[in-house]
Amino acid sequence: MKTSILRKSDLQSVPTDVGIDAIKIKEPVSIVIFGASGDLNKRKLMPALYHLYQDGYLPEQISIIGVSRSPMTDEAFRNLIQTSMKDAKIDAPATHPILQNMFYIAGNVDDAAAFKKILAKLEDLEKQRKQACGNRLFYLSVAPDFFSVIVKNLSENKLTYPRSQTEAWSRVIIEKPFGTDLASACKLNDSVKSFLSESQIYRIDHYLGKETVQNILSFRFGNSIFDPLLNNKYVDSVQVTVAEPLGMEGKRGAYYDTAGAMRDMMQNHMMQVVALTAMEPPSALDAQSIRDEKVKVLRSLVPFTAAEVDAYTVRAQYAAGELDGKPVKGYLQEEGVKPDSMTESYTAIKLRIDNWRWAGVPFYMRHGKRLKKKVTEVAIYFKDPPLNLFHQAAGNADLCMIADRPKSNVLVFRIQPHEGLRLSVACKQPGLRVQLEEVDMDFNYEKGFAQRVPEAYERLILDSLRGDQSLYTRSDEVDYQWRFFDAILKGWAASGQKKLPQYTPFTDGPEDARRLVSGGRHSWRAIKDM
Ligand code: BG6
Repeated sequence: MKTSILRKSDLQSVPTDVGIDAIKIKEPVSIVIFGASGDLNKRKLMPALYHLYQDGYLPEQISIIGVSRSPMTDEAFRNLIQTSMKDAKIDAPATHPILQNMFYIAGNVDDAAAFKKILAKLEDLEKQRKQACGNRLFYLSVAPDFFSVIVKNLSENKLTYPRSQTEAWSRVIIEKPFGTDLASACKLNDSVKSFLSESQIYRIDHYLGKETVQNILSFRFGNSIFDPLLNNKYVDSVQVTVAEPLGMEGKRGAYYDTAGAMRDMMQNHMMQVVALTAMEPPSALDAQSIRDEKVKVLRSLVPFTAAEVDAYTVRAQYAAGELDGKPVKGYLQEEGVKPDSMTESYTAIKLRIDNWRWAGVPFYMRHGKRLKKKVTEVAIYFKDPPLNLFHQAAGNADLCMIADRPKSNVLVFRIQPHEGLRLSVACKQPGLRVQLEEVDMDFNYEKGFAQRVPEAYERLILDSLRGDQSLYTRSDEVDYQWRFFDAILKGWAASGQKKLPQYTPFTDGPEDARRLVSGGRHSWRAIKDM
């Protein structure tokens, strides 16, 4: 049974547009995108810039310089972007300012000559705007092996400048993965920090740009009725799920086989979601306060001992199967994947957060490719009421017909798809008997708000232009995330296991995952639409 707690009419009175003027970028800016012919730029970054421009957040005086290896004219690059944006349902005319202000430079990122060309172009554009030097954003949408060398070359060729020398700013967005283990992440951090200050480094985690991920904070700290319940007195357990039906789709195997479910999703995106769910209220909504609180959660993660790694983690690979009558490859048969690969396409863990608020509450996390549906959610299961009054009482069976204890008292943050919130509670069924049933109180973003939900990259790029690092990860966050997951990865590597269990594709995942939750009151939530 469903009921609705919020109606569209209630929400239309919410002044959602307040403050747009305060956050729009007024100063001219140049954005340099490394990896400009790549998928991320075409599918996400350019559409995000287009929408930001259309919605009035970007200045008229904006230039976008794409950098990649293949030679191309400005015109060809504009055409490439114009065509690829059509996939994002954007039909921008060639005369659109975003396309008209787009330039292209071909070059190798380890070749200083390429950076000299970029600098000359930047200075030329800045001169046209009558600026001694201008605001510059560099986006590293390239393979992680190139992060350090690009930052080094940016700095040595004077494309970035120390804040103290100029009024203008220069910032660098670094894509994921930020390292492949603790040692490589520390090395990368040391390397970029030798050229840039922390305030110039924007480590992107696109999950933080998702509306519903941000709404975890709004919901928790913008209301007074929920957060007092989010602690070990009332919460039984928390389940964080990121399920995807996609596999390698013929092109991701080579990268994915070096990463796996834990490095690709759990260590970064999912851990950030856990940190937002578990953190204490920040003293203010600024980058330092929010990130300080997230770090406290990450520091409270109880590391697994070597013996615990097997007990508290599950890993598996999808087997071959079929979809709509067509055969679908198993993980080991995917292009780019080693036939004897030990890389997991599914992982689940039972996490403990040892702090005052959460001690004793298990956080279960699971993520996998080729699962039944695309579902990303955080489900908070509350404890039973202290006394179950709705037991069948002797002598009143006629009047008091009792249902099984309903699966109620669950609060779900649905991050995607159909972004929203659901609170499931027990309710008396109408009638003369006392029978409880679970009802859902739902709020759905699409239905609730008449406006377009912005893509994560829109929010994040805008924030980087505004100099707001709240939704970017700080070096110590990355460090603590890796400390925790490094122990698991090392434990797996040392296990001596030669083959991973397989799971049937398009299901809820491996049977083995059940053992993680078996001691608790709740089993894994079914992977299904809300
Ligand atoms: C990326 C991972 O960071 O996030 C992918 O590399 C994953 O493997 C993707 O599919 C999921 O992002 P979203 O926004 O579709 O949930």
